[in-house]
Amino acid sequence: IGDRLALTPPMGWNSWNAWGLAVDEEKVVASAKTFVAKGLRDHGWGYVNIDDGWEIKGSSPEPKRLPDGTIRVNEKFPNMARLGDRLHDLGLKFGIYSSPGPLTCGQYTASYQHEVQDARSFASWGVDYLKYDWCSYDQIAKDQSKAELMKPYQIMHEALAKTDRDIVYSLCQYGMGKVWEWGDQVGGQLWRTTEDIEDTWKSMSDIGFAQAVSSPFAKPGNWNDPDMLVVGWVGWGPSLHMSRLTADEQYTHLSLWSLLSAPLLIGCDMTRLDDFTLNLLTNDEVLAVDQDRLGRQAVPVLMEGEIQVWVKELADGGRAFGIFNLGNTPADYTVDLAKLGLKGRQQVRDLWRQKALGAASGRLPTRVAPHGVVLLKASAAK
Ligand code: GLA
Repeated sequence: IGDRLALTPPMGWNSWNAWGLAVDEEKVVASAKTFVAKGLRDHGWGYVNIDDGWEIKGSSPEPKRLPDGTIRVNEKFPNMARLGDRLHDLGLKFGIYSSPGPLTCGQYTASYQHEVQDARSFASWGVDYLKYDWCSYDQIAKDQSKAELMKPYQIMHEALAKTDRDIVYSLCQYGMGKVWEWGDQVGGQLWRTTEDIEDTWKSMSDIGFAQAVSSPFAKPGNWNDPDMLVVGWVGWGPSLHMSRLTADEQYTHLSLWSLLSAPLLIGCDMTRLDDFTLNLLTNDEVLAVDQDRLGRQAVPVLMEGEIQVWVKELADGGRAFGIFNLGNTPADYTVDLAKLGLKGRQQVRDLWRQKALGAASGRLPTRVAPHGVVLLKASAAK
């Protein structure tokens, strides 16, 4: 029996892409309240994760820890236990961030040599999820060997295991040393496979369409993490703006992440949620592809010119597949169902439109928008 903590990919929100280091308690709670008010919680969105920026700054002249070693927060997060309560009272889960080096990527205080204390603090604040970065551990690691890459994650894993809480453990070292091959051995439920995502077609598609290599390692309890969903208002705080992805690119983003069984972590300011983004995030048939309990990660089965067809096997015996158009002009593409392993008559359903397309066998004509997708599910016809 594998890991039981994240049997399907975690779904929630993370403060980084919206707020960067400008995050504070009220912004987090405001986003959390919108989660509930707009009904996202009822579609399975549950984690509210604070990223970097809650800890005392590394450059602060003040002591970084209390006399007993407890890490100190900064003025933007005066009371972490209270924040945990506020999130739990909304029926949501509380995520936090740290790094294994002395400093985080944003130059705030991190957990080096205080792992047990920090894990204990997190547990006492009611934390349900820890994203553990890499920054500044470069100075500590002797080399880039697998053993050295694993070490800090193993240390924090053991520290978390000593607490009395179930804390989902998310490794964030950008895929170094093929982390997908060993992330589960250091207790990770998920691990970042790439550098940081941005809200551009290049960044999102470069990341998303390069995920085939890690595919064999996804399974219930352990997931590859291609980073946040850059939809809605994003921009690291001061430069907040509407995602630069077009509507079709956002359908591609959500479809691909769902086919990949990726953790779905919304990166936007939830208080500015517009109707398009809300609809994008609450299509239960699409989310069901991501959350399918078989836990397979899609693989590209057909690649022809600008078209890629990614296929995911589902627990009910059906297949979800996305026909992606990476080109700049609309594409008429006829899918050869047999090449997707779909033999005989199939019932085909359009998941974004939540509409049955009827029975098909052999060949299925589609029209795919530039940078867009047609996301379908096929089940053997009775
Ligand atoms: C790294 C991570 C990001 C974010 C920042 C915080 O860049 O990859 O996701 O956590 O650090 O400083």
